[in-house]
Amino acid sequence: MHSHLLPGIDDGAPDAATSLQLLTGLQDLGIQGFITTPHILWDLYKNTAATIEPAQQLLQAELDLTNNPVLLEAAAEYLIDDYFSRLLQEKAPLRVLRNNHVLVEFSFVSMPYDWKKVFFDLQIQGYQPVLAHPERYTYLFNKWPLLEEFREMGILLQVNLNSLTGYYGKPMQQQAQQLIKRQMVSFLGSDLHHQRHLDALRQSSTLMPLVKDCLNNTAWKGFGK
Ligand SMILES: [Fe+2]
Repeated sequence: MHSHLLPGIDDGAPDAATSLQLLTGLQDLGIQGFITTPHILWDLYKNTAATIEPAQQLLQAELDLTNNPVLLEAAAEYLIDDYFSRLLQEKAPLRVLRNNHVLVEFSFVSMPYDWKKVFFDLQIQGYQPVLAHPERYTYLFNKWPLLEEFREMGILLQVNLNSLTGYYGKPMQQQAQQLIKRQMVSFLGSDLHHQRHLDALRQSSTLMPLVKDCLNNTAWKGFGK
């Protein structure tokens, strides 16, 4: 439910052949369906339905050519920026994962100053916010009261599989493990952009037992098929 597999529209797969290669690589790891999430990050990736849907169709055509029946859907990963605030203000329909779940990310530099208002506005419009990779924001390291506040506000948290493999480094790995231990994680996603991410997942021997452990966790709130 978090990846950058659509060809040529963000910093993920640059073309359809690479998209197919990455997607089938994830399939080999046992992932049976994809809700891929191209960036909507207005300074860099001005994605809308007009860019996302043709890219999805292009990848779907590749899948059809190879008779690959895998589920492919396309939502988005919204950076909370001025553009996103404008979308909320205009009550523009947002791209959802499922069940009105909207995947959002913060800047890696600092929390958006108006984060409370943004989450509140999302919820008031009937959306369920899902915060992408909280373990990767250094300003949230060990900020348990704040992370607890997210939970109390009903914001769901999504951890990256590659945080658990140690790909981003030890501090992110420890933060991801802590979040899971505290039963604060509702989703795991690959956040896959390129081959190096796939290789890191493939090479991890501890990943799949950990995923299974998470799935058995009673606090698991994510949605299935
Ligand atoms: Fe992402």
